Amino acid sequence: MPDTAVVTGAARGIGRAIASRLAREGWRLVVADLDAAALAEVAEELGALAVPGDTSTDAGVRHLLETAYAQLGRVDVFFANAGIGTLAGLDASDADWARALDTNVLAHVRAARLLVPRWLEAGGGRLVVTASAAGLLTMLGDAPYSVSKHAAVAFAEWLSATYRHRGIVVQAICPQGVQTRMLEESGPLQELLTRDRAVSPDEVAEAAWQALAGDEFYVLPHPEVRDYSAQRAAHPDAWLAGMNRLQQKLDQTRTPNEENA
Ligand SMILES: NC(=O)c1ccc[n+]([C@@H]2O[C@H](COP(=O)([O-])OP(=O)(O)OC[C@H]3O[C@@H](n4cnc5c(N)ncnc54)[C@H](O)[C@@H]3O)[C@@H](O)[C@H]2O)c1
Repeated sequence: MPDTAVVTGAARGIGRAIASRLAREGWRLVVADLDAAALAEVAEELGALAVPGDTSTDAGVRHLLETAYAQLGRVDVFFANAGIGTLAGLDASDADWARALDTNVLAHVRAARLLVPRWLEAGGGRLVVTASAAGLLTMLGDAPYSVSKHAAVAFAEWLSATYRHRGIVVQAICPQGVQTRMLEESGPLQELLTRDRAVSPDEVAEAAWQALAGDEFYVLPHPEVRDYSAQRAAHPDAWLAGMNRLQQKLDQTRTPNEENA
């Protein structure tokens, strides 16, 4: 029975909720985040080991996993959850793109490079990536987020296709709006993200917990995402036209200054 996990981005939001859900089940945890102070509080509350640091860099992930293996003896599940948005389109700088790609997808690649050989040797392991519905559809108003989340889903698919017969389970959590700091700070996009329903971080954590009992690739706290994704695949132009109508609505809510951007 698996009962050890590492959760990144665990100082708040979805990561914190996932760590709390696992702690309630008696799992032994290592939690990581850039925000050392908030992470320390969560770790104390949950009886977890805190590893503050940047989980998107090779050195950060290496340190996290070395500490986790030393503490736990093994890592049954790695929750690659830390993620960021940029709220930028063509105005996103190269640095914005690099940060989004590092945090939202290369972090997962760097973790998998270290984890998969250990898991193959141990006979199995599980990577649960918090991607986003933006990784299946798109996120109006944030080009680096959309692209990096698509890449996160693509990398997760690649890993699953390559290693599933060797005991490695890969899952992608793809929610729409979740009531976290990220959503609060999404400005004019907030309404768009909560159009259907913003779920709580605990609801996402519950979906993630239930998903651990099986090996289904997609974990969809908003089930309607499955239909949107099917429509996008079946009728790409109609889907794009629909997204563009939403963008036009967003444009109407922007100030003349923003429209010139
Ligand atoms: N909130 C939403 O509406 C929503 C929807 C879909 C997907 N997601 C995804 O869920 C995940 C969690 O987001 P959230 O909503 O809980 O956001 P959040 O901002 O509340 O929490 C994210 C946490 O990740 C940490 N973090 C960011 N970059 C890091 C790094 N390089 N190293 C270590 N820690 C880092 C932050 O310090 C923060 O504590 C993200 O991947 C996000 O893209 C969120």
